[in-house]
Amino acid sequence: MADNIRVLLSEEEVNHKINEIAAQINRDYEGKDLHLICILKGGVFFACELAKRLTVPVSLDFMSVSSYGDDSKSSGVVRIIKDLDEPLEGRNVLIVEDIIDSGRTLAYLIEVLKQRHPAGIRLCTLLDKPERRVKKQVKVDYTCFSIPDEFVVGYGLDYAQKYRNLPYIGVIEL
Ligand code: IMP
Ligand code: MG
Repeated sequence: MADNIRVLLSEEEVNHKINEIAAQINRDYEGKDLHLICILKGGVFFACELAKRLTVPVSLDFMSVSSYGDDSKSSGVVRIIKDLDEPLEGRNVLIVEDIIDSGRTLAYLIEVLKQRHPAGIRLCTLLDKPERRVKKQVKVDYTCFSIPDEFVVGYGLDYAQKYRNLPYIGVIEL
């Protein structure tokens, strides 16, 4: 049976906010090249929309990580399923994520990527659930929306691999 989904953030609201964040990134990186790292699979819709709005020179790479345990609860132990294709040495890296929840995935990932000597690493997320943060050291540089502690789907985010393709962000009503 189809789940009942309540719209939390409409497609218009999301796209409008991505315009704003992209403009800010264009200002911050003026005169520099930017290397986007999209975290699969959830980050892919946001990364594409963001990248289309960037006017600084952009390159893109992809990484897939999995935290042991089911997808709704991060264990903090992160496994690299697909590593980056290119080295990071000397590059201005911007990690693009769908959502920061406990922050465990990103805390681990940032430590791994720092060891590859980028010029800098910043973090950009579509959604943030600040109430849920366990890893307080994870500093988010660009956040589109801070949301309450509700399980959301759409715009890349899934529930058991479904709903990633929704053009808006919604909450599954039980
Ligand atoms: P963290 O390590 O706890 O920050 O986990 C982040 C990951 O958990 C995200 O990349 C998502 O895959 C997943 N996640 C956390 N909250 C949600 C949600 O509300 N909907 C869908 N996936 C979520
Ligand atoms: Mg994810």
